[in-house]
Amino acid sequence: MAGKTSAVEACLPRHVGIIMDGNGRWAKQRGLPRVEGHRRGAQVVRDVVRWSIDAGIEQLSLYAFSTENWERPGYEVRALMQLLKVMARSMVGEMVEGGVRLRLLGDVESLPDDAKGAIIRACEKTAHCDRFDLVLCLSYGGQQEILAGMRRVLAWALDQPDPALALDGLTVDGFRHFLWRAELKPVDLIIRTGGEKRISNFHLWDAAYAELCFLDVYWPDFSQDDLRRALDDFASRERRFGRISEQLQ
Ligand code: FPP
Repeated sequence: MAGKTSAVEACLPRHVGIIMDGNGRWAKQRGLPRVEGHRRGAQVVRDVVRWSIDAGIEQLSLYAFSTENWERPGYEVRALMQLLKVMARSMVGEMVEGGVRLRLLGDVESLPDDAKGAIIRACEKTAHCDRFDLVLCLSYGGQQEILAGMRRVLAWALDQPDPALALDGLTVDGFRHFLWRAELKPVDLIIRTGGEKRISNFHLWDAAYAELCFLDVYWPDFSQDDLRRALDDFASRERRFGRISEQLQ
């Protein structure tokens, strides 16, 4: 099946998605403002890129701000936007040096102009980098992505000689080309820190067959050992994609 990984290749995920949860609780535990948890979390972002490259992962997507996060108190949203702006500016140099291309997933247009500008400039400056992709999921929601894909597919179908026939012939892999993730590798592994066991509207399309790993550690405490453990756990899974073991040999 196109886009699916064979059992042999499955030892190392090519695309890992992380739900960086637990910043607020990390801060609360220490009597600090929630925003301090996000600041410490942003420092871990720097490290996790390096650890991922060292591990041989090709794409890392980070759930930095969900569609639903707009509902948080205004001061927290503003602080997160400010943090994104500062991080985008300060990380460009090291990203270029390390061959890291910054890519975006989500409704980036909805970000405030200064954050959006800094992030888009960082994408432009790293566009030639081809060692590793860091995908920031910003104002991202999996349901919203699928809805946007449906609108695109309808516009495409209406442009075909027989729209109903065109839609009838559309496959699952074909529909993926209409999603925001069309240019990304399928997500093989989703890691969620912070102890909650849910997907929270992250990477819904690829979650169909991604392996899931839930860790009890809060994001600011996430370490290289935690990543190693998640990768070892992934390597121990048998990805059958609906088939049986014997068919995978
Ligand atoms: C979830 O923890 C975390 C977020 C909504 C924001 C994540 C953002 C960062 C780590 C900074 C991003 C920076 C870059 C450059 C990607 P939470 O606040 O929901 O934690 P809680 O569940 O403990 O309250």
